[in-house]
Amino acid sequence: MHIFKKILLALLIVFIAIQFVQPARNKNGLVEPVDVTKAVSVPENVKMILQTACYDCHSNNTNYPWYTYVQPVGWILNNHIINGKKELNFSDFGSYPIRRQQSKLKAIADQIKDGEMPLYSYTIIHKNARLSKEQKALLTDWAQKAKDSLDKINP
Ligand code: HEC
Repeated sequence: MHIFKKILLALLIVFIAIQFVQPARNKNGLVEPVDVTKAVSVPENVKMILQTACYDCHSNNTNYPWYTYVQPVGWILNNHIINGKKELNFSDFGSYPIRRQQSKLKAIADQIKDGEMPLYSYTIIHKNARLSKEQKALLTDWAQKAKDSLDKINP
């Protein structure tokens, strides 16, 4: 067999083999009692944007399109979920001490203003997570207002 064919065949076998290593799914289908919507007011239009652009990595309920079942895409996403939830989990937001909630809301506004979130690599594939100017403004306004409301309780 030609060396190229051997290499291609080997790659194909590796590709097929890694498909059997599927990471555990981050999905419990619950709205926890400590969900962000119970801790601060979240208008419906803001919630929709958070769900499509942020919840995949920052909640206990990731939406899994078909390509996330193809490895290594699923592994990369899984890594983002683990690291993203460590920093900010909207499903657990209400369990954070108020100081942490305040600083996270500030971080949300900052990250969106700077265009850091959602992660660029993610929006290449998840096109519906790309934020328009209006959506960015909605999210940053919301985060600021939510922080203001907590600042009143805990200056
Ligand atoms: C593809 C996964 C992914 C998506 C989608 C995503 N994030 Fe993140 N986010 C991460 C990861 C991973 C980190 C950890 C730090 C880093 O790698 O930058 C993070 C960090 C953050 C932080 C920093 C927390 C801190 O205290 O510094 C904030 C705030 C944040 N994300 C907000 C958002 C918001 C708001 C959205 C939606 C508009 C969003 N993220 C979408 C993966 C994601």
